Amino acid sequence: MELPFAESWKIKMVEPLRKSTRQEREQWIKEANYNLFQLKSDQVYIDCLTDSGTGAMSDRQWAAMMMGDESYAGSSSFFMLKDTITRITGFEYVIPTHQGRAAENVLFSHLVTPGAIVPGNSHFDTTKGHIESRKAFAVDCTVDEAKDTQLEVPFKGNVDPVKLEKVLAENADKVPFIIVTITNNTAGGQPVSMENLRQVRAIADKYGKRVIFDSARFVENAYFIRTREEGYGDKTIKEICKEMFSYADGMTMSSKKDGLVNMGGFIATRHEDWYEGAKRFCIPFEGYLTYGGMNGRDMAALAVGLDENTELDNIETRIRQVQYLAARLDEFGIPYQRPVGGHAIFVDADKVLDQIPKEEFPAQTLAIELYLEAGIRGCEIGYILADRDPVTRENRFGGLDLLRLCIARRVYTNNHMDVIAVALKNVFDRRHEITRGVKIVWETELMRHFTVKLERL
Ligand code: F0G
Repeated sequence: MELPFAESWKIKMVEPLRKSTRQEREQWIKEANYNLFQLKSDQVYIDCLTDSGTGAMSDRQWAAMMMGDESYAGSSSFFMLKDTITRITGFEYVIPTHQGRAAENVLFSHLVTPGAIVPGNSHFDTTKGHIESRKAFAVDCTVDEAKDTQLEVPFKGNVDPVKLEKVLAENADKVPFIIVTITNNTAGGQPVSMENLRQVRAIADKYGKRVIFDSARFVENAYFIRTREEGYGDKTIKEICKEMFSYADGMTMSSKKDGLVNMGGFIATRHEDWYEGAKRFCIPFEGYLTYGGMNGRDMAALAVGLDENTELDNIETRIRQVQYLAARLDEFGIPYQRPVGGHAIFVDADKVLDQIPKEEFPAQTLAIELYLEAGIRGCEIGYILADRDPVTRENRFGGLDLLRLCIARRVYTNNHMDVIAVALKNVFDRRHEITRGVKIVWETELMRHFTVKLERL
């Protein structure tokens, strides 16, 4: 008999969880204005809000922290980090930042000017925010397949080469760079194939443009290439990463995901001119070049985390847990973005709460219901997060309305996955009784989902 699959690690330290009653949760969510970002973490039983900065570090990472060098300039931990990044990505120039959006801020301050057009595949909300706040435009060129949650295609995160080429043919002079997000978070943690990365490179070369990878989950992307794309089954994760980055000019990184640390980010590039340009913004915004918003000890832990996560055992354990949860949802017939992506389940809320009109935000309503059911905190990746159109100020209802349930790295067991699955099933079973959603009573202009205040209808 074949041995079952199990985690590639064992647990050395635990953190107690607190359960609550439905009555308590009714009160707490009301006090939070029906915005799950406004809940306190001890009001949450299983936290699936994000996989960002919520992972567990290994004993080796904690050991590296003790060796961190806190020198203001020339920290040896910086050089350890830089060498690791160069080894994994091939990029020679590295600027640490305090997190991913800070990397965007620093690099885009150099590259994005008013009126610029930045094509990509479903820019993440902070990426879009850093483009739009500079009076530039993020043009989404994701493949249309990503919009049909029930379609089983292996690389739903891909850039549509025809859409990309059209943007460049019409507006090449306005495009400072192309950005490819690996994996494509907004489309459901969906991977981008190596073939697609090659196509993007070819189009970029044709128009003399450079390519940035928003690389928050690049290791998950490499794992999917290894398991789904022909010719990669025998390659190591590190070999696949190296090839992926060979098609880019630089990267922005949120180390809080595939770096396996709780805080941190960086920019890496092969071009000295980008490095020189970004340097000018790193120093005033983030800090001196050999720490850029990070502690020495955090850079040391990140160096170890990057190495550890680019080993097959670790990344396989991670993806297989997400796939385990997806298989449980299949048993109950719950619709989600298929096939499941790398870091989360994206439940298709429009299909679950099909009686609730878009204007009443189905995915947000489903997030509230799941919290009330079992204290599980998910997050809306849908019409609230999409913000308003910067020109018309209308809500953007064109995309998907999803409830994202993120799985933290190395934190919960498969028993927790079972609780999530059954809680969702219970809500799913009474979906026809849920007929009204929520309305916005207060919001900000950009990235409103963090602070939006809602009322139940
Ligand atoms: N790019 C992608 C694809 C992301 O998913 C994120 C963050 C960022 C950039 C920004 O990085 O948070 O370190 O500043 N995503 C988190 C999430 C917040 O929950 O998906 P950051």
